[in-house]
Amino acid sequence: MTLSIVILAAGRGARMYSGKPKVLHELAGKPLLGHVYETAAQLPDRRIYIVYGHGKERLPRAFAAWDVCWVRQAEQLGTGHALRQALPHIPTRDLVLILCGDAPLTRRESLLRLVNAARETGFSLLTARLDQPGAYGRIIRDRHNRVTAIVEAADASAEQSRIQEVNSGLMAVKAAWLKRWLDGLDNNNQQHEYYLTDIVARAVADGISIKPVIAESAIETLGVNNRLQLAEAERHFQLSQARRLLLNGLGLADPARFDLRGELEAGRDVEIDINVIIEGRVKLGDHVRIAANCYLKDAVIGDNVEILANTMIDQAVIGAGCRIGPFARLRPDTSLAGNVHIGNFVEIKKTAIGPDSKAGHLSYIGDATIGKETNIGAGVITCNYDGANKHPTVIGDHVFVGSNAQLIAPIRIEDGATIAAGATLNRPVSKDALAIARVEQREIADWKRPGKKAP
Ligand code: UD1
Ligand code: CA
Repeated sequence: MTLSIVILAAGRGARMYSGKPKVLHELAGKPLLGHVYETAAQLPDRRIYIVYGHGKERLPRAFAAWDVCWVRQAEQLGTGHALRQALPHIPTRDLVLILCGDAPLTRRESLLRLVNAARETGFSLLTARLDQPGAYGRIIRDRHNRVTAIVEAADASAEQSRIQEVNSGLMAVKAAWLKRWLDGLDNNNQQHEYYLTDIVARAVADGISIKPVIAESAIETLGVNNRLQLAEAERHFQLSQARRLLLNGLGLADPARFDLRGELEAGRDVEIDINVIIEGRVKLGDHVRIAANCYLKDAVIGDNVEILANTMIDQAVIGAGCRIGPFARLRPDTSLAGNVHIGNFVEIKKTAIGPDSKAGHLSYIGDATIGKETNIGAGVITCNYDGANKHPTVIGDHVFVGSNAQLIAPIRIEDGATIAAGATLNRPVSKDALAIARVEQREIADWKRPGKKAP
């Protein structure tokens, strides 16, 4: 029996109160459906089908790169109806693993247990025990402890509502049986939907024994129906990532105040203070220290770099020994060589800075190339934009740019030049020259400031 995996993802997610399909909401920076798909894709020898519907072609467009068969459910008439749309595409001899696009925390191991159980009996079901079973479907067992039915919370009697074993929504069933049962479903229930869960009672009526697999951890079965559950799933996911990283040697001041929305590769003796957010792919060298409230996205940080509090780094490469922040902002296409110092309120974009150079305070540096051992004073601005186009600024080695200078690009400042404070420059500066461009100071003696008028 080869494996066909069907991910049900057509629902609207009414309880999210959102304009976007529920499965596009993100957990740790990745859409819910992305988590489910990636776990499914780890199973060997399988074909993946995704049932979509609400949001029209948004899902197939958003995930065009995936190797899946997209099946449209034009009207969302329930989970049973959703699966039925996929069945004509699935070979009758296959085993079908049914996943929900809104259950992102299920682990690969649990899917394998579920599939292996179904290889024995033809029908397995992932269940969980919850202290507060809430809106989940309840698992009904007979006095021999055999599963006989699933009752949806909306349809459950008071007594059934007290049952703590719930349906995760995940099942593995022979395609041939699904083809038989799904055509016969009705929607005579509280929600007027064709429930997939009704096939359990049909299987029992056909004398088939269902193999329940109880999830090792109940959180794995969490289905995200509203934003509260999404936030709970996020916290759980973040905490388990943080614990894994800590056990692998990453220094985190507080695992509850660390968010990784992507992939982090870290060297030895890396220390991260609280409230740090890491997005995309970030690589940290050895002995990197990151202070509180920093945001790093798609960045490569060299050894011994110190990132001080409240710094934002987006698509930048930072050489060994740099000191960045506090309150620095490095924007895309920034690259810093070794031992560069970038201080508070400095913004850098599309700029390469050579080794041992510094920009300590309050600067904007954009579309620039800066050499080694150059000092950029407080308040220096590269005027890179003329209202229509961006222009480059090139600054050589050992340059000293005095405070509050404005460099009107395109402009080139040769090695060893000195720019006097307050200069506004729009012409090149030669090697080792001093450029001064400011109104000369004059003095009016014994100046009387105007006094206040009498009322
Ligand atoms: C479903 C189960 C419930 C289980 C819970 C686990 C049914 C009838 N109920 O309830 O027993 O405890 O999951 O989380 O199966 N979908 C479609 N098309 C539809 C309706 C739903 O593709 O017409 C998709 C949704 O996008 C979602 C999944 O099926 O990914 C589950 O649907 P949802 O409406 O969230 O079902 P629950 O009420 O959570
Ligand atoms: Ca759900």
